[in-house]
Formats: sequence, structure tokens, C-alpha cells
Amino acid sequence: MPDTITVKVPATSANCGPGFDCIGLACAIYNTFTLSCDDVPGIRLAVTGQGKDFLKPSEKNFAVMAIRRVLSEIGWNKPGLDIKMRNDIPMSRGLGSSAAAIVGGMTAANAISGGRLSRERIFELAAEMEGHLDNVAPAIYGGFTISFMENGKPRCMRLDPPDGLQMVAAVPDFTLPTKLARDVLPKKASYRDAVFNIGRAALLAASIAKGDTSFLRFSLKDKLHQPYRGKFIPGMENVFAAAGKAGALGSFVSGSGSALMAFIPKEADAEMIGGKMCAEFARFGKTAVWHVLGFDLKGACVV
Ligand code: HSE
Repeated sequence: MPDTITVKVPATSANCGPGFDCIGLACAIYNTFTLSCDDVPGIRLAVTGQGKDFLKPSEKNFAVMAIRRVLSEIGWNKPGLDIKMRNDIPMSRGLGSSAAAIVGGMTAANAISGGRLSRERIFELAAEMEGHLDNVAPAIYGGFTISFMENGKPRCMRLDPPDGLQMVAAVPDFTLPTKLARDVLPKKASYRDAVFNIGRAALLAASIAKGDTSFLRFSLKDKLHQPYRGKFIPGMENVFAAAGKAGALGSFVSGSGSALMAFIPKEADAEMIGGKMCAEFARFGKTAVWHVLGFDLKGACVV
């Protein structure tokens, strides 16, 4: 068995507009975990990149909890953990940094202890710990995922996104905790809004499956969560409009925000679109940076 293992895990964007709590996709921006386990008690954690100033080596750290969960499932209880994290995924912006920590920790712990757990089992354990299937599924499987619970078990179908498509994320300099962004949602939805979303989510999944982007501008619309979350994301509708005017096929709140994501054709001027999105955020007093992102197709893997 290896002494040290390195795993990389992609960022994820949940919901993709109408697919609230079920659709997600994996983006080619990564956190990397290097893990060694030994018999010297204690957690050594070295973080570079996002979170380096506040991630602490404690039993409450998501990656540590995830590693412990897998090691105890396997019955390989090493008291000492040495973890090095290189974090490029922005935190608390709706890009799946918590799912990445959990899936990365579980994948690394599984690999270092002999790879006895299947990806399906890691999906179950990670879903239980994280709670959001729509981030966990693409972090594990890559691509575009549709996930759901059936008889208490998480299930997912994975699709390859079309070749000609990429994304631009406009990431503002403020965080939006998922709990706050969920607490603002109403307890009930109207039939009219539910029907609106069912149609759009079906259209989105069909567009991705067929590789046909011609309907994307209709299919990314949502009435179940974005209208309520807009109050936390100044200029949201204006950023969407600016992206569309600059050539994006459609845009949506990434996960529960604060980042906004646009789908663009590969031949589009991604830098110009990102610049226009951030300029619109600036008009509303918010500094933002943009990232051009490809899709990740592999999910969490040992490197
Ligand atoms: N589907 C979840 C939400 C994703 O929108 O609250 C959280 O990352």
C-alpha cells in the first residue's frame, strides 16, 4: 500500500438554474490533497491557496472528518494524519468547496488504505456527510449529473457535456453561506412554478444528452430558488443580461451563490464575457473576478 497518496477533486456547480437540488456539473478547477496516515497521533495540516489563513487541523475539518469516516468503515484506524491541501476552488461561493473537501478526503483515504470502497459507496458516504447530492455527485463522477434519493440511497446518472460548450464564472468578493441561501426559500412552491422548472430541467438534461445547445437559453431559467436568492447577490439579473448580450447561451446562480455562471460556446470571446459580467457586478458596488472553466470529465481521482 502507498505511504502517501495525492488526489485531485473538481469544483462543482449545483442546480444549473432549474435543477434545484438535483442537477450539477464538474468544473476544471481543482483542490489537491496529499495524504499520509501513520501511528503518531495528531493531525498535521498544511494549506496553500483558498482557506490557508483559517483552515485548522481539527477533527471538525471536513477533509479530516471524511478521512476518518472512510478509515473507520474500512477498519484501518490510524491515529496520525498528515494532510497537504492545495486549494484553488473559491470557498463559500457556490462552487462546491465543501463537497470537494469531503470527496477529496474520502477518495484519498480509500486509495491509501487499498482502494476497497467503490465509487458508489463513496457517493453514499459523502452524500450522508455533505447533504447536497448535486455537488457530491459531479465531484465524484465528473461531467453533468442528475442525482436523487431512492429508498434512502443516493443515485445518479452522469452525462458528458457537449464538446462545444464551456463556462465563465463571475466570482464576487463576498461569501454566501448555503444555510442563509436556503433559509430564504419559501416552504411551498406553486404548481405554476413547479411546472415551469420541470419543463426547463427536462429541456436542460435533454440538451446536454443530445449535445444540442440551441435550447439552452430557455432551459437555464428557474423559478424555485434564484428569485429568492437574488436579494443576496446585488445585480444578479443585470449580470445575467450582460452575459447574454455579450454572447453567453444562458446563465444561472452557481449552487446557492454567490458566484454566477454562464454557459458559452467555445468559440465565444470568454474574456470579454467575463469582463462584462464583472463590470456589471462593479456597477452594483461588488468586486468580482472571472474564470473561464472547462468541464471536468473524470471527477475525483488519484494523480
Ligand atoms: N442545491 C443546493 C442549494 C446546493 O442550492 O442550496 C448547495 O451548494
